[in-house]
Amino acid sequence: MIINKLKIKNYRNFKDAEIELNNSLNIFIGDNGQGKTNLMESIYLSSIGRTFRLNSENELINFSENKSSVEISLIKNNYNMKIDLLLEKNKRKTVHINGVKLDKTSEMIGILNNVIFTPDDMRIIKGSPVERRKFINIDISQIKPKYKYLLNKYKKVLTERNIILKNYYTNPQNKDIINIWNDYLVNTGSDIIFLRNEYIEKLKHYAADIYADISGKKEKFEMSYCCNIGRSEYLDNEIIKKSFHEKINNNNKK
Ligand SMILES: Nc1ncnc2c1ncn2[C@@H]1O[C@H](COP(=O)(O)OP(=O)(O)OP(=O)(O)O)[C@@H](O)[C@H]1O
Ligand SMILES: [Mg+2]
Repeated sequence: MIINKLKIKNYRNFKDAEIELNNSLNIFIGDNGQGKTNLMESIYLSSIGRTFRLNSENELINFSENKSSVEISLIKNNYNMKIDLLLEKNKRKTVHINGVKLDKTSEMIGILNNVIFTPDDMRIIKGSPVERRKFINIDISQIKPKYKYLLNKYKKVLTERNIILKNYYTNPQNKDIINIWNDYLVNTGSDIIFLRNEYIEKLKHYAADIYADISGKKEKFEMSYCCNIGRSEYLDNEIIKKSFHEKINNNNKK
């Protein structure tokens, strides 16, 4: 995938800018506060549909304007593609891919693949597991559309199951229904664990090579995926499911 062109209007401190990009490496050099990170952010926004900064979406629009747009032309699998993003103050943003409007912004994930690394991303290593999960969720969703679907499904199943657990003793029916929801939770959750493990197993080889380079081979880099059901054999979906079920059964009384 190659981004050829980036056109931004009223985006943060940019009034109107059009940048033709080189198809290998592009480096942006500028003074502090000149807009380098803003440029990166506009690309990220066109990839994931949201900013990596903590600001509200209105702040993406230039302070003295009400509308902003980002237009990206790219080549993917030999096809020319265009992503158009329109931001309007206090409104939901709209996204067009090749002129066709998307129903949901999240549908754009996976078209413009991107990985961002900023100083704040040190929290992937130093911070809590939620930061690492967020990072790998964004990455895997870009590679596998199925993963995004599984995450949404898992959230819904978890919410439904929690409602049933809350009314476990007040509604006698729930004692039968809970097993159905446990199965949903285990099946969806196991697929997620499997894909996360698959991703980490791939990533760790790249990371180990890069780290060997940085450290002059003096240190060895390793990483693995550990989740709540314990470090069982994550390469086999059936074993994951079994451990997941066991974990739920062990906690049943609690
Ligand atoms: N909505 C907005 N309207 C106008 N200007 C904005 C808006 N949001 C941010 N800015 C301006 O953008 C500038 C920051 O740009 P950016 O963070 O991209 O700089 P940078 O080139 O990455 O700087 P550094 O080298 O310090 O990282 C600031 O001057 C800020 O005031
Ligand atoms: Mg910056």
